[in-house]
Amino acid sequence: MKKILAIVLAVAMIASVAMLAGCGNNGTNATKASDAATTVETASSKAKLTMATNAYFPPYEYYDGEKIVGIDAEVAQAIADKLGMELEIVDIEFDSIITGVQTGKYDMGMAGMTVTDERKQSVDFSSSYATGIQSVIVKEDSAIKSVDDILAKDATYKVGVQLSTTGDIYISDDYEKAGKSADLITEFQTGNDAVAALSSGKVDAVVIDNEPAKSYVAATKGLKILDTEYVSEDYAICFAKNNTELKDKVNGALEELIKDGTVKSIVDKYINAK
Ligand code: ARG
Repeated sequence: MKKILAIVLAVAMIASVAMLAGCGNNGTNATKASDAATTVETASSKAKLTMATNAYFPPYEYYDGEKIVGIDAEVAQAIADKLGMELEIVDIEFDSIITGVQTGKYDMGMAGMTVTDERKQSVDFSSSYATGIQSVIVKEDSAIKSVDDILAKDATYKVGVQLSTTGDIYISDDYEKAGKSADLITEFQTGNDAVAALSSGKVDAVVIDNEPAKSYVAATKGLKILDTEYVSEDYAICFAKNNTELKDKVNGALEELIKDGTVKSIVDKYINAK
């Protein structure tokens, strides 16, 4: 059985090299019609690598037309290319990624996901490939000048977050510690929804990762990001705990891509170049 697998993998690897040579890098798993003649057979023999994400999190993952693009999508594609696998990106609710990975529905979760001790009890993480900061978005004319204002003793600000993100976890914890009502926090399914609620005055602030925050503020009139940072964190890819073989393979590829500068150039393309 092992031998057969090895042969299949070897064939897949040769096939992927041939594909790369033949058609260049055409991004995520879409096979162009013009390549069909040469790649139809080989493409299906490639092992699939399914990545669960939540594609409303620019610049890590977002839609460009029908296609999911962004830092995570490109790093995952580079990993799949290296491993001779076919990448499939599945867009689900952020809240369902860890369970989906745990139950084996998806091979890995990659979603600008922060490594936390609590999550480590449910999933394993790869090496970290990027850092993030939880920041706070408010209206331009807001009385809130810093995170401390929100947490101040008698303050009763309404805060919007994306459900089950670290922004949600941290502010919920801090509100509880400060003796504030949990009702002041509204959990939205996406960051977009939280920002829309801020724009329409339903919440006074949104806690979210800094890069998506920048994208949202750039795209929405009348909002700004506070200068004070809330929490800084590391992003990594998550795997089911029993899936060490795949984790080691993906992590090995990721580490090579970090070492040879590929990850940095992908990050720079989306962040620093702007
Ligand atoms: N870094 C935060 C977390 O891990 C937010 C990630 C949200 N990602 C997404 N693709 N919506 O909780």
